[in-house]
Amino acid sequence: MSTLLEKIDKEKLPRHIAIIMDGNGRWAKEKGEDRLFGHFHGVESVRNIVEGSAELGIEYLTLYAFSTENWDRPEYEVIGLMELLVSTIRKEVESLDKNNIRLHVIGDMSMLPEYAKKELNEALDITKDNTGLNLIMALSYSGRWELLNAVKSIAWEVKSGRLSVENINQDTLQQYLCTSGFPDPELMIRTSGEYRISNFLLYQLAYAELYFTGVRWPDFRKENLYEAILDYQNRERRFGKTGEQLVVG
Ligand code: IPE
Ligand code: IPE
Ligand code: MG
Repeated sequence: MSTLLEKIDKEKLPRHIAIIMDGNGRWAKEKGEDRLFGHFHGVESVRNIVEGSAELGIEYLTLYAFSTENWDRPEYEVIGLMELLVSTIRKEVESLDKNNIRLHVIGDMSMLPEYAKKELNEALDITKDNTGLNLIMALSYSGRWELLNAVKSIAWEVKSGRLSVENINQDTLQQYLCTSGFPDPELMIRTSGEYRISNFLLYQLAYAELYFTGVRWPDFRKENLYEAILDYQNRERRFGKTGEQLVVG
């Protein structure tokens, strides 16, 4: 049994972990391979981390798989990623279902090619009654896109008279985010040594603990996840209060 795993306090697990899966391209280039080779190997990490999260009893796992800005990558890479997405979902949906994992998607689905939308919708439907890990794929997602959408929807509600400006509060805003119904992530992990958010969950990460590792995504495994969780468990989450206030309770 893993010693890292034993060290994790099961009573203090984050309910929601969000991951920016970065570094596939560099991982491949370092091996003299094409970027798509890196994405292909990144799928094995997804499988491993989903399994590890489910085993631990994590309730929500959000994986940033494709950003709004990633549409601007060379066409062959975008197409390669879409095809990989579809073939992976097709291959994995049965095992997700068997493991009681419920798939969710956040992002601008309208941007996705029809064949990808169809495959995703089927997988969402197959897993919709599952009650274990909630696996949230951020696809064609960006925090600014999400906030803009929320603002527009709220403006429509006000314009139609269904909502009054005085009644808009933080709960209202949360309801219009793609993540309504999910708790905010307590832990955000980014792989590959970049120290930025890259338009991920801008609103929801307000008080997340951030964990950065140089490990490239295709090399990221359960042990790396355990390390991140242990690091998280040693942090003092203050939410604006003083350390002394936290001790008093
Ligand atoms: C992350 O790896 C996967 C996606 C953004 C789709 P990258 O493709 O960004 O890899 P690097 O950062 O160029 O190494
Ligand atoms: C963020 O990675 C998006 C995903 C991992 C899906 P990027 O590689 O696109 O981010 P930047 O360009 O380095 O900020
Ligand atoms: Mg990158």
